[in-house]
Order: sequence, then structure tokens, then C-alpha cells
Amino acid sequence: MHFELTRLPAASQPGGCVAVGVFASHALTPSAKLLDKASGGAITAAVKAGDMPGKPGDTLLLRGLPGVKAERVLLVGCGKAGELHEGAYQRIVATAAAAVGKLHAADAALYLTELAVAGHDEAWRVRAAVAAADHALYRFNEYKREPGKRHLKTLAFGCGGKSTKALDAALRQGMAIAAGVTLTRDLGNHPANICTPTYLADQAQALAKAHKLDIEVLDEPQMRALGMGALLAVAQGTREPPKLIVVKHLRGKAKAPPVVLVGKGVTFDSGGISIKPGAGMDEMKFDMCGAASVLGTLKAAAELDLPINLIGVIPASENLPDGKAVKPGDIVKTMAGKTVEILNTDAEGRLLLCDALTYAERFKPDVIVDIATLTGACVVALGGHAHGLLGNDQKLIDALLAAGRTAHDRAWQLPLWDDYKEQLKSPFADLPNVAGREAGTITAAAFLSAFTEKLRWAHLDIAGTAWKSGKDKSATGRPVGLLVQYLLDRVGA
Ligand code: BES
Ligand code: MN
Ligand code: ZN
Repeated sequence: MHFELTRLPAASQPGGCVAVGVFASHALTPSAKLLDKASGGAITAAVKAGDMPGKPGDTLLLRGLPGVKAERVLLVGCGKAGELHEGAYQRIVATAAAAVGKLHAADAALYLTELAVAGHDEAWRVRAAVAAADHALYRFNEYKREPGKRHLKTLAFGCGGKSTKALDAALRQGMAIAAGVTLTRDLGNHPANICTPTYLADQAQALAKAHKLDIEVLDEPQMRALGMGALLAVAQGTREPPKLIVVKHLRGKAKAPPVVLVGKGVTFDSGGISIKPGAGMDEMKFDMCGAASVLGTLKAAAELDLPINLIGVIPASENLPDGKAVKPGDIVKTMAGKTVEILNTDAEGRLLLCDALTYAERFKPDVIVDIATLTGACVVALGGHAHGLLGNDQKLIDALLAAGRTAHDRAWQLPLWDDYKEQLKSPFADLPNVAGREAGTITAAAFLSAFTEKLRWAHLDIAGTAWKSGKDKSATGRPVGLLVQYLLDRVGA
């Protein structure tokens, strides 16, 4: 999809379709008013007749309006007049994009960035609109014999004012975020028989090549030499070789400590010997969405050439049962030297992450953030709306919370008090890998905290947010929006 800005008034915009907003009060947005006037009242007539109630989600298509250059006019419901919140705005844009995406039109223009959003300027509205529209137009058809034809090629956003650097930058940022989100969704949606640890490593190589990033992929012998006993315990039950993928975007000052992102890359999580129930197990192909979000964030950062040192670390493995698989009660030694009693082989994410976090210490990070589909408990606690966020540095957590609000990719902090850490006791090893049913998201983070004592660290549990189930089953691309916003905030862009 090609995105651009247009400065033409809605009535003079050529092409397949122009979309304008209508409020539930029957009030018209400025561009809707303009079209109404140009067409001799065609829009007020449709609204008065009751064809466009104006609620969010409503659309009405009108064709061939006199005085309007575009072939079609799409009316888009905007709800109550007045300032919108971020989510409502993005939903309105997404509704419009999805509707024009269904037309046999090669180009369209949305005049929705003129809607007021509380606390945000036009640049924010452009950036958020590009991201929301691209998300709504996303399709994953790689395995369909008849993928269905895509007509829409160009989507423009109407901007009343004159050309400004800020709006052009916002367009570029929106497109970079969209590209990162798309990469993350594509990787997540591929089935696990294609998207293996080796595939993830190959995709990381391709990303590095396209954007001239440094990359290193460690194989099993190298991980063994480093003493990554926890990571290798997960991998010992599968025939797919594990990978530790390290991608570096080093565009900051030479000595500036990097931001390090660590993404869980379990390309299929059967649970291992502690095997999961069968229902819905296909969704465990999404257990590498943390890894995918790290690559997506790197892609966005590279496309924007952000002046920052950013390093992605991805421990990747399958988690399968096998005659050689790790068993409940097995004790392994981590790269940090601590021993872990693996009481449940389905708590494999933290085993990969603890060694990856220890490995990342060598980069002397300014901050480190891990992203993982870590616990079913997080799905229960927060559902699909917010990521779980925990860590040992409140300043970092506050910055991530703020970035999530700005990007409307929100996180919610859970406590990580020492009281929870006391639940992690093993009679045989330094740590168990599970600590009972209670507070599962927090005890998982408490386990990780034992490996990040030397770091300013935060943990995003994206188990509920990384993909959607049901008939629209798909990876969401979250939390790329939050992470890119965090980086933009850091560089003051
Ligand atoms: N990948 C799962 C977490 C998960 C479950 C994400 C459902 C999304 C939906 C993780 O590896 C896992 O199995 N966690 C266990 C931990 C438990 C054994 C302590 C869980 O949440 O049940
Ligand atoms: Mn698991
Ligand atoms: Zn898992």
C-alpha cells in the first residue's frame, strides 16, 4: 500500500473515493460540510433520511455526487461530536480504510485526520491514521490458492494546511510503524512447520541485509559453550535446531549504551512433556510473537534511520515432547550459574529468556526490555486489551506506559514485590521454574528478575495481546506500536 498526504479540498480530490466523517448528532465534519455544499446538500439529505446514523462503525457509500470530483463519497460515522480518544479515532479510520479496501477503487482519500483527538496534534493524527489504516487493510493470504484481488493501491490522507515537515515526518513514521507491524504479523501468522527457529534466523538475516544491520546467529554448539543450559533444555526435545539471533541497529553515538530488546521465540509450544490440552493448541504457533515484535521494531527503527543504538536478541526454539525431551524434575544450569529445577516443561519461555537476558549483559544496555507470550494468567488478568508490564526500574516502566498510551498500544503495570519472589523456592535447586497457580504472570516475571539484577529491566507479557483468536484469528503486531513510540520518545522525534 502506498500512503500519501493530499492538500486538495475534499471536493477537488480526484480518484475512486473520498471518505468524510459524520457525527451521531448529524453534525458534519468540515470536509463533509464542504462536500455537502458542493453537491447541493446530498450529504445532509442522506443523513436526514436516516441512512447514516453517525455511530462509530457506520458507513454509507454515495456515488456520483454532483460537484464532487471523486467517483464515490464514503460517509463514516464518528460518534459523539467533540474530542475523541485515541482508540475511537483509530477505530473510525480503520472502519473507513476497511470500507474503501472493499471497493473496486485503486485510490482513495480519507479526510478524517481533521477530527480532534484529545491531547494530540495533527502530526499524531496522521501517524496514527496511517498505522490504523494499514492494520485494517492487512491480509495474510500466503497459503490460499485464490487469495482474492486487491484493488486499492494508494491511500491519501487529507490535510487542510500547507505542507509541513512535521506532517511529512508523521507520514514516514506511520509507514515505518506499519511496516514493522506487518512484518511482525506475517511472521506470527506463518504456520510452525514453516516458521521454525531456522526460518526466524533467515528472516532476521534478510532484514539485516535489506537495512544494513549487523547480525549474528548463534547455533547450538556456541550456546553450549556459553553455558546456556536452560535454553538448551527446551531445545533438547525437538529436531529443529535452536538459534540465538542477535540483530544490531547501531546508529546512535558510538559509546551510547544501547536499548536491548529480547523476544521470546518459541515457534511452537506444545508444552513439552507437560503437554498442553489439544483444544486451541494451533495457536501456540504464535508463541514467537515476542521475537517477531523485536524484528518488527528493528525494521521500523531502521526505516526511520533512528539515531539510536538498538539491539535485538531472540532465543528461538520449539517446545516438543520426545524421548530426549526435558522432564519435570530435571535440573539445569543457566548461563548465569544459577540452577533451575524444571517442574513444568510448559514454563519454557522463562527458560529461554533467562539465558538470553544473561547473554545480553555483554552489551551493557542502557535499558533492556523483554517481550514474551509468557503466561496464560496474563490473558485471564488483562484480556486482549493491555500488555502486562513489570520490571525493576520505575522510570523505564513509566516511559513504556506513556508510549503505550500515545500509540494506543497500552500496557498495564503489575506489582513485582519481593513478597512474590518468595514463592519461588525449590528444595533441590536455586530456583524452580514455576511457583504454583497464584499470580502466574507475576511469578514468571519474578523468575526473570533473578536474571536481571544488574540491569534496568522491564518485561512485557503479551500473551493476551499478540494475537486474536476466533474467526479473525491473526497476529496483531503488538507491541511494535508501543516499542517504536518508546524509541521515538527517546530520540525526541
Ligand atoms: N506460551 C505459553 C503462555 C500462553 C498460554 C500464551 C496461552 C498465550 C495463551 C507459556 O509457555 C506457558 O505455557 N505458560 C504456562 C506457565 C505455567 C506452566 C506456569 C501457562 O501459562 O499455563
Ligand atoms: Mn509453554
Ligand atoms: Zn510458551
